[in-house]
Amino acid sequence: MVAEAQGRIVGDVAICAVTLTDGPAGWYALGPVSVEPSMQRTGVGSELVRAGLQRLIELDAKGCVMLGDPAFYSRFGFAHQPELRDPGPSAGYFVALSFLPSRPQGQVRHHAAFTGEAQPLARADPLRQAPPGRSGP
Ligand SMILES: CC(C)(COP(=O)(O)OP(=O)(O)OC[C@H]1O[C@@H](n2cnc3c(N)ncnc32)[C@H](O)[C@@H]1OP(=O)(O)O)[C@@H](O)C(=O)NCCC(=O)NCCS
Repeated sequence: MVAEAQGRIVGDVAICAVTLTDGPAGWYALGPVSVEPSMQRTGVGSELVRAGLQRLIELDAKGCVMLGDPAFYSRFGFAHQPELRDPGPSAGYFVALSFLPSRPQGQVRHHAAFTGEAQPLARADPLRQAPPGRSGP
């Protein structure tokens, strides 16, 4: 999701699915969140987090995790949940928010698109797709 101001994109937040090794389905990761430096501290980042959480509720999510400063994200309800673990190097910045009273346990695995392990999509070749007899761009 992106934030726009005067026709320009000034911030974004990503959402992707995560897997909990011994927990329920329906968990997601929110973030990264980024706001253009000149627009920071004007409420855009908070609005992106709130919009992202609203979208997750619409998706019937059970909860979400986040890698970010707990000092900022605690205001949205995120907190360290010791029963959820992130194997990455940023464990101190790993926070979670359950939308249900139950608290799952286990290790969080991010989607391959988040970790960069996903295979790139095959690129369309415009020359190959051009009609016969026409040259490429
Ligand atoms: C972190 C970030 C997304 C916050 O967005 P923002 O639009 O600046 O934040 P908002 O204006 O909605 O909220 C400002 C509040 O957040 C606090 N805040 C902003 N960045 C913070 C940070 N890194 N750590 C702690 N608090 C932070 C401010 O102190 C301010 O608090 P206040 O409301 O009590 O005055 C933005 O600063 C950013 O893009 N930073 C660089 C990228 C980054 O670090 N992203 C987070 C990793 S997921």
